[in-house]
Amino acid sequence: MQNQKTLSVIILAGGKGARMRSSLPKVLHTLAGKPLLSHVLDKAKSLYPEQLIVVDGHQGDRIRETFAKQNLRFVRQSQQLGTGDALKTALPFLTSTTQTLVLSGDVPLMTLKTLQDFIQQTPENTIGVLTTQMDNPYGLGRVVKDDGGKIQIIEEKDANVMQKKINEINAGVYLFPTTKLNKLTPYLNVKNNQKEYYLTDMINHANLESMPVKTICLDNPTEVMGINDQSELAKAERFYQKQLANHFMLEGVLIRDPNRFDVRGNLQCGQGVEIDLNAVFVGEVVLGNQVKIGANVILKDTVVGDNTEVLPFCHVEGATIKSGVTIGPFARVREGSVLEEGSKLGNFVEIKKTTLGKKTKANHLSYLGDAMIGDNVNIGAGTITCNYDGKNKHKTVIEDNVFVGSDTQLVAPVVVKQGATIAAGTTVLKDVPESSLSLNPKEQQNKTDWKRR
Ligand code: UD1
Ligand code: CA
Repeated sequence: MQNQKTLSVIILAGGKGARMRSSLPKVLHTLAGKPLLSHVLDKAKSLYPEQLIVVDGHQGDRIRETFAKQNLRFVRQSQQLGTGDALKTALPFLTSTTQTLVLSGDVPLMTLKTLQDFIQQTPENTIGVLTTQMDNPYGLGRVVKDDGGKIQIIEEKDANVMQKKINEINAGVYLFPTTKLNKLTPYLNVKNNQKEYYLTDMINHANLESMPVKTICLDNPTEVMGINDQSELAKAERFYQKQLANHFMLEGVLIRDPNRFDVRGNLQCGQGVEIDLNAVFVGEVVLGNQVKIGANVILKDTVVGDNTEVLPFCHVEGATIKSGVTIGPFARVREGSVLEEGSKLGNFVEIKKTTLGKKTKANHLSYLGDAMIGDNVNIGAGTITCNYDGKNKHKTVIEDNVFVGSDTQLVAPVVVKQGATIAAGTTVLKDVPESSLSLNPKEQQNKTDWKRR
């Protein structure tokens, strides 16, 4: 019987990320709404390794807190002395697997397929180094190959003029025969221009331990792009979003401008969906068939039913929106709101924990909070549910076929029974019986002998 190859994964995430010039540790900066380290972790987990170790260091506690729910094995690098030191810190915790894959927490775009191919193409007794050709390799480790086939990685700061001209760079992804790793650590030293322990020195001296080194060169350089500063982060973000936009466009989604399309979480789209400029989708968002999303709309954790249209400049969060609904422009739908079939929410309306029944309309300038509103209700302009008494929140119930005139205040808790009419300008302080008219009588006076000052 053939032995099964087993895999350990070590992710290096201890560095300070000084070039980000940020108080946040580099690997916690987000790409598509997710920390850089999450992108790397998700891929690593998809390889189903025997063990997965994350080396943290700079603000390590903050990193551990962020991933507290994931039950990960963290190892602390006490001082940020370089990538070689980071790897060495993890070695005592390795179990004896066949191979150990080393990844950088700041290389988020790599695909699972690339990693799988890399592992597949690296023989068991060989050190694999993932490389790529870059037009502008500045700042990266160059892959120097001599006539005898010896491979060396020389950092930018240590490279001579000739070496700097080399376009093949080290992607920072390595595969080592696990049991040989300890033989290579004695070659770590700080005799370089950065006075750091370079992981790459382990590779540069592998020949002394009769260990072959194989480079595997990837076609797509963007995939292995490391994030070292804010501009690289922005570049990676755009690349990611454009890829995603392409995926959706191939599925038939009309995206007006793929350069202005952002998903920070997961988006699902039905057939015939149209998305205008600058739409941002956060968390889990589901769009049904023939949904139209206007320009400058933010949708977070929301399900949108078929044939619904969200007009420009709306902010929708934690809502369930059924089919044939129209929202906006300039509407704010807050958590726990439900818009039933065919309902309409117009401009400058804010709703929170409120259900709008079927074909119910709130077309202009209102606040509806903690309200249960039935079917075929008209909510006039300027209607306000006074749901908060300074201490507690109270409910407003408006039953089917109610007509609420403009500039109405509903002081909760209050119930407006079905078919009732509320006259414009009414402050509703007590329940309104079925089919009745509710008003606060106030007499209008017209003074004809009056002169404007
Ligand atoms: C490294 C490689 C370089 C390669 C590049 C690819 C070395 C010496 N150089 O350079 O050849 O082209 O990646 O992106 O390895 N880290 C620690 N502890 C430390 C230092 C770093 O855990 O003390 C972690 C960082 O958090 C990061 C990763 O190691 O996730 C890479 O470190 P970084 O400083 O970004 O290395 P580069 O200079 O990019
Ligand atoms: Ca880097």
